[in-house]
Amino acid sequence: MNREPGVAVRRVETRPFEGQKPGTSGLRKSVREFAEPHYLENFVQAIFNTLGGDARDALVLGGDGRYGNRDAIQRILRQAAANGFRRVIVGRGGILSTPAASCLIRKHGTDGGIILSASHNPGGPDGDFGVKFNGANGGPAPESVTAAIHAASGSLDHYLTCDAPDIDLDRDGCHDLCGMQVDVIDPVADYADLLEGLFDFDALREMLGSGRFRMRFDAMHAVTGPYAREILERRLEAPAGTVMNGEPLEDFGGGHPDPNLVHAHALVALMNGDDPPAFGAASDGDGDRNMVLGRGGYINPCDSLAVLTANAHLVPGYRSLAGVARSMPTSRAVDRVAAARNLPCYETPTGWKFFGNLLDDGRITLCGEESFGTGSSHVREKDGLWAVLFWLNIIAARQQPARAILREHWRQFGRDYFTRHDYEGVDSAGAEALMAGLRERLGSLPGQQFGEEVVTEADDFAYEDPVDGSVSRGQGIRLYFESGARVVFRLSGTGTAGATLRLYCERYERDPTLLELDTQRTLAPVLDAAAAIAGIEAHTGRTTPDVIT
Ligand code: G1P
Ligand code: ZN
Repeated sequence: MNREPGVAVRRVETRPFEGQKPGTSGLRKSVREFAEPHYLENFVQAIFNTLGGDARDALVLGGDGRYGNRDAIQRILRQAAANGFRRVIVGRGGILSTPAASCLIRKHGTDGGIILSASHNPGGPDGDFGVKFNGANGGPAPESVTAAIHAASGSLDHYLTCDAPDIDLDRDGCHDLCGMQVDVIDPVADYADLLEGLFDFDALREMLGSGRFRMRFDAMHAVTGPYAREILERRLEAPAGTVMNGEPLEDFGGGHPDPNLVHAHALVALMNGDDPPAFGAASDGDGDRNMVLGRGGYINPCDSLAVLTANAHLVPGYRSLAGVARSMPTSRAVDRVAAARNLPCYETPTGWKFFGNLLDDGRITLCGEESFGTGSSHVREKDGLWAVLFWLNIIAARQQPARAILREHWRQFGRDYFTRHDYEGVDSAGAEALMAGLRERLGSLPGQQFGEEVVTEADDFAYEDPVDGSVSRGQGIRLYFESGARVVFRLSGTGTAGATLRLYCERYERDPTLLELDTQRTLAPVLDAAAAIAGIEAHTGRTTPDVIT
């Protein structure tokens, strides 16, 4: 459905771009690639073309504030108007964290939303940009939809836009744009209200407001600054300065807004310094990732999901759980809690979109990925600040420090030592050859010994969605060893240069005297075996990973 005659809809001739294929999380490319004339408009038109006419009523629109965000919003608004949308809800300043966008889509019952973000990838003119489409459930479009968008992008010969001046994004208000209603709204309030309904804000206020419990939240100059200030400093009365790097910047202050031990160095230094706060946390570019640190060490995201599951009954919004899910490469720590509590536990491919059906169908309440993503049925995205509040709520309820809670967890359930090694920007052909080589040998690997490890099983993970029956194949090579260890190989679907090989490794330990060993040293024999089996050096020329988490 297009606008009525009389409204200045303009048809712009275009040609398809190759490679407008959404990856693990939307279309992510360099700013330079996005700057090509028509590149953004083509992809947005491809999204609109896959939405039927009756799904073009209302949209949510916002982004992580990175370079290009504001300009893209103005252009997408004109396209939405020309394509017949009635209303678009935009975050003030063009800002919406990914979980807040999900919250708004659900709250206002829109047909979906467009989120502008390349997540944890660097921003600025030399950085990356991205466009994600979320459906009416508030979650990332499933593979069937992203495939349709890619197909539509391949046959575009025009897009629709209209001529209108820019909307003032910096003040709340209602505007008319070529006959479409644009509502500029507070990007924080609805989301903060949602979280307030899930956690014990009185107990948190008592803990944080008293100054008894000091914490720091590192927003990494990305989108969560305003959210964290509102929630932690205003509603929960934590002292000013609790939120660090809280001003969203177009280039994230030159940093890499990825909350891990390597990139959140300011926070890590603080936690390792003299007189550290009791608790530290960080979020990523678009606010969906989290890293939590206790005094004396960080909490692996796989363990974090397990601890949240085991302690959910202490949190008002989570007194009972329907089930849990984790992405396949995530360690099996949460499986042990689920088994002990008789909870259904699902193993899905990498990427939040695979949790959507399980959440919509009421099969799970909590879910998470090793890649610093944890979330629940409150939205359809992972949620950084949510995870931080969940931890704080548990700490307040148990009156114990984070690390003590983790230690007790290990004593009760055993510990799944886990690490991920990333080989970034490697030659694509080499990386593909490595994966192909493993696939060819799946049948012959079991029984073979590599160093100290003997392979017992090898497969290429395929997932059949229990709700809609859709099947996703080729989701990662899994090798299981006699020692109980497991490794997974897969190629990243979010990188923008060359290929990134991810090697995930875990081993379970029950012995109470062996629960606090060094992770890398403990997993070294398994990592060595994995490198030998895959021929990492031969295929990539690398002997060491670029990032270890
Ligand atoms: C990475 C993570 C994955 C996460 C995605 C989006 O994808 O591994 O768990 O869902 O970012 O945040 P990858 O680059 O591995 O395809
Ligand atoms: Zn993100």
